[in-house]
Amino acid sequence: MAIDAPSVNETYRQMQAKLSKLVPDVELRIKAELVYEINRRKKERGAIILGHNYMEPALYHTVPDVVGDSLELSRRAAATDCDPIIFCGVRFMAETAKILNPTKTVLLPAKVAGCSLAASLTAQDVRGLKAKFPGVPVVSYINTYADVKAESDIICTSGNAVRVVQSLKSDTIIFLPDKYLASNVAKETGKKIIFPQRGESPQPGDSTMVGWNGVCEVHEQFTVEDISNIRKQFPEVVVVTHPECSPEVVAASDFSASTSRMVSFVKESKAPHFLILTECSMADNIIAENPDKDVLRLCSVRCPHMNEITLEDTLNALVNNEQVIDVPEEIRSRAKRSLDAMLAVP
Ligand code: 13P
Ligand code: SF4
Repeated sequence: MAIDAPSVNETYRQMQAKLSKLVPDVELRIKAELVYEINRRKKERGAIILGHNYMEPALYHTVPDVVGDSLELSRRAAATDCDPIIFCGVRFMAETAKILNPTKTVLLPAKVAGCSLAASLTAQDVRGLKAKFPGVPVVSYINTYADVKAESDIICTSGNAVRVVQSLKSDTIIFLPDKYLASNVAKETGKKIIFPQRGESPQPGDSTMVGWNGVCEVHEQFTVEDISNIRKQFPEVVVVTHPECSPEVVAASDFSASTSRMVSFVKESKAPHFLILTECSMADNIIAENPDKDVLRLCSVRCPHMNEITLEDTLNALVNNEQVIDVPEEIRSRAKRSLDAMLAVP
């Protein structure tokens, strides 16, 4: 993405060329001014903007230097020399950038930008599980806060969860906090999933994953019925899901993977219709890049946390240095160990 900021008119023309079918012209004109100002100030400050795949189209296609899924953005956050790092994503992602690159200022363009999965598990919960299952390795999803990462042995993302689980030489593994991702990974790795919160315990001789009751408030809403209704209407539709969907929804789909792999799957596939079951903005972003493909999405289901990030607040982050993300050193250094363990998995 451009680091040499073009003029406002040129910015508007570039946005119009890509987004005119998705964003009304009046909105494009207003946003072009914001984009121009963000790119000018970003260059002036030597900043880098990292943008998650769920950012709204007028932001996603204009201001980030790097876009991607949680794994790709973590790798870029760890490697960058730019300062500050502006993270257009949710709080746990900005925290991850700070943990991996502590000498840089990390800014989140929102006051809260939470996540239902990150909110579902505390460090005390993890300590409780470790006391109940001594010596069992703890894999935590990247959608957790720093203090939970600090209690974990290794982190995973949707892009590497199966590889991370397979890298551990243990029959029993604690996998937190997403019950659906855990069930999908258990299925793929041939493990049995149990939930101590339901009073279940591992059985001797079983290769077991110990799960937690967290869910993504967006992906839990997609149903098998949604898929069968769309298949009735569009018999050739190819259904693409995120593994935070229930195992039933994933089983009823044609392909399930991290957000970036969903994007590349649609790009590379020759199918005429796609149904994208994840945050609706990502389907908009796919449409902007693939105008020849018919992409359906269920926009009644949105992530309120990702949608807190706006161009206005991204500019505010650059101008006023807000919101600065800090992680206490004692937590950061332990959380970094579990993130480094993940980044070392090939
Ligand atoms: P990805 O790592 O696949 O981008 O997923 C992040 C997320 O929060 C999905 O809801
Ligand atoms: Fe969290 Fe779900 Fe939003 Fe992703 S889509 S940030 S998992 S609430």
